[in-house]
Amino acid sequence: MFTDKVIIITGSTQGIGLVTAEMLIHRGARLVINSRSPEKVEKALFYLKKITPNVIGLAGDVSNYEFCLDLRNYVMEEFGRIDILINNAGVASSGLMKEIVPNAFEKVVQINLLGSIYPTLACINDIRQQKGSILFISSVAGIVGLPKYSAYSATKRAIVSLAESIRCELTDDGVFVGINYPGFTENEDHKTTLNAKGEEELLQKRTGVKPMSREKTVERIIQQLQRRKFRMYASFSAQAIQWMYRLFPHLTLSILRFNRKKIISMQ
Ligand SMILES: NC(=O)c1ccc[n+]([C@@H]2O[C@H](COP(=O)([O-])OP(=O)(O)OC[C@H]3O[C@@H](n4cnc5c(N)ncnc54)[C@H](OP(=O)(O)O)[C@@H]3O)[C@@H](O)[C@H]2O)c1
Repeated sequence: MFTDKVIIITGSTQGIGLVTAEMLIHRGARLVINSRSPEKVEKALFYLKKITPNVIGLAGDVSNYEFCLDLRNYVMEEFGRIDILINNAGVASSGLMKEIVPNAFEKVVQINLLGSIYPTLACINDIRQQKGSILFISSVAGIVGLPKYSAYSATKRAIVSLAESIRCELTDDGVFVGINYPGFTENEDHKTTLNAKGEEELLQKRTGVKPMSREKTVERIIQQLQRRKFRMYASFSAQAIQWMYRLFPHLTLSILRFNRKKIISMQ
């Protein structure tokens, strides 16, 4: 199903994005990778080109619309079509609302929200031509607002509404739009997060939660594209939280409030 399909994955020079690129290449896709750092793009291309020549990359910031147009034009020049867009680029962030500075919030909104909107705007008509797919990577934190993760939760939930609107609009075009909710996934050692001051810092190893492997998380992303299923959860616990919140919203929020100190103290 992926043979010769042209797939753009934003933020794909490490972590979930890079493993998704690799696993889709093994399924015959032609891949476009991206992230802001030219060095990381070069390194990821060097690694992926050992598997296939059908991979290209462009460094740039997907929260900049002009760059997204350049990315779209580059892909059309090189491959002549766009079948699938995976809006994966994202930044982790944490900080209590009473401490967080406006600039930190702006950065998270720019990357996690505009960074999903702009590539979609730039590529939507090419994807419509192919009756292709647009996948948004949200998070369990996008199901319900978590304490200390207001900016992250707000942006990851906003892209759920975005996906719902676009899915409805594109019904007659045969385009698949989906939203994927990864759970806590094994991080790269050098993964960074934005602190309350909006500064990038190394993400501390999380204690007390066993992460899923990146491969397991990506298997769910690939299954979702294959099945064209609107919502896909990486883990049973993520699905359970969604159902619980839908059926018992007040109870779910009360449980969160009861456990707030534990959640806030978690890394
Ligand atoms: N890991 C988890 O536990 C988890 C759980 C739930 C959801 N998620 C979501 O899954 C996605 C991937 O997570 P991950 O853990 O693989 O993250 P990661 O290791 O931090 O990788 C993020 C990638 O995005 C790129 N990036 C960041 N901002 C960008 C921008 N403005 N424009 C273009 N590229 C950008 C980064 O490279 P540069 O720095 O070079 O730009 C990097 O390649 C994110 O959306 C995240 O929120 C992750």
